[in-house]
Amino acid sequence: MEHWRNYNHITDDKVLKDICYNCGSASVKSTYPFFRRAMYYGKWLCELYGDKGFYFATVARNHIRLIAIAVRKEHRGQGLGKKILFRLLQRLSGAGLDTLTFRTPMNEEAQHFWLKQGAKIMDVKGNDYEMQIKIIKTE
Ligand SMILES: CC(C)(COP(=O)(O)OP(=O)(O)OC[C@H]1O[C@@H](n2cnc3c(N)ncnc32)[C@H](O)[C@@H]1OP(=O)(O)O)[C@@H](O)C(=O)NCCC(=O)NCCS
Repeated sequence: MEHWRNYNHITDDKVLKDICYNCGSASVKSTYPFFRRAMYYGKWLCELYGDKGFYFATVARNHIRLIAIAVRKEHRGQGLGKKILFRLLQRLSGAGLDTLTFRTPMNEEAQHFWLKQGAKIMDVKGNDYEMQIKIIKTE
């Protein structure tokens, strides 16, 4: 059984916060207040996979900007990060877009995850990599 749901600010804020604080990434933890602000502006996408993980992204004209993807520490390494990312890539494709952009600290473990998913380093901004994933349509 799948456990996807769109973020609901009445019931899910605590869950989102809890995952941010228990995913083991200092940068995701510090991003949590941004979600709350971002929700008042512009278009965003956020889905939770049970209480185990989520993605949060904002929608720009020609791409989607991933703000964070996270899986609670105890559920890592079971393919959930990949599953959550693919879910977002499906939405991206469904919106007629092909580019996901994001920024990630050079020194965080998540780099391994991103490189395995085919992400490319586009630029260096301070201590972060500016990265992107492009969907290639084969038909
Ligand atoms: C990054 C993160 C979402 C990955 O989630 P996950 O559920 O553990 O990842 P998966 O089990 O789906 O792993 C997918 C692949 O990445 C690899 N991978 C994941 N984390 C890795 C690590 N730390 N080192 C090496 N490889 C790693 C897995 O081996 C797997 O490889 P495979 O496709 O060959 O089997 C999770 O570690 C996390 O929440 N980290 C903290 C938050 C964060 O840094 N988010 C990214 C910045 S927005």
